[in-house]
Amino acid sequence: MPRIAYVNGRYVAHADAAVHIEDRGYQFADGVYEVCEVARGFIVDMPRHLGRLGRSLSELSIAWPVSRGVMPLLMREVVRRNHVTTGLVYLQVTRGVASRDFLFPPAGTPSSLVITARKADPAAQAKRAAAGIRIITVPENRWDRVDIKSVGLLPNVLAKQKAKEAGAQEAWFVDADGMVTEGGSSNAWIITMDGVLVTRPAEHGILRGITRTTLFDVAAKLGLRIEERHFSVAEAKAAREAFISSATTIAMPVVAIDGDPVANGHPGSVTLSLRQAFFDVAEKSPA
Ligand code: PDD
Repeated sequence: MPRIAYVNGRYVAHADAAVHIEDRGYQFADGVYEVCEVARGFIVDMPRHLGRLGRSLSELSIAWPVSRGVMPLLMREVVRRNHVTTGLVYLQVTRGVASRDFLFPPAGTPSSLVITARKADPAAQAKRAAAGIRIITVPENRWDRVDIKSVGLLPNVLAKQKAKEAGAQEAWFVDADGMVTEGGSSNAWIITMDGVLVTRPAEHGILRGITRTTLFDVAAKLGLRIEERHFSVAEAKAAREAFISSATTIAMPVVAIDGDPVANGHPGSVTLSLRQAFFDVAEKSPA
């Protein structure tokens, strides 16, 4: 079954899908994106993801490529045409196609929209969660506006590649004060000896993850307390549990940081209960 992509108003074979060489996304990383989980035939937390997309677009003065109300229809159609029941739907909006110039293109230049969907193997994810993942830490070297979900991800690419080469699955950025900001493509959490969930405030220095937001709802349901505050690498290593969150990993246990085990080096039970309860609490839009 060939994969299908949506590109600027057309459904095309994924293998042939292309944007113009002068697309601002290609020239300047002048665009934003979202990744939504697809689970059991539902698009998870779609309204929250579209809300954040709207914020990213408005922070960069990029126009919606189609009205917000039409986006769910397009996303559903791409998921349907690709027969995805477990996986993800990816969407990217850029400032459009224009002759290369740092200044914004002429008014009325349409934004570009690409939507793709991809299947994932739930068994592989479950296996990864059962084993936990290993993290390395790297110095924070990203720009100041990581609250915008921009496609400019070169520091994240380099950090995650470095993690892979070190036998790890994610890298945590660490700011100049030795405090963890977030992962290359995930938010960072620890659980203290008292069972309190700790994650960095989302006002500055991190992306306000949608999974992170929904985990606040999950924690409330499970009667768990959350503290939004900075935490250091040393505190994370000494924590009862550590985990990452994102649309593609949900809550994923961290068992080692820079080669040192977190607690006993096994996935934590609170993390696994958050993971288990997530789908029930999240908003589910039929795909
Ligand atoms: N990344 N922080 C960063 C830097 C991210 O790239 C992501 C998501 C998150 C978590 O956000 P959410 O819970 O909304 O997925 C935090 C996606 C999955 C990606 O780039 O593939």
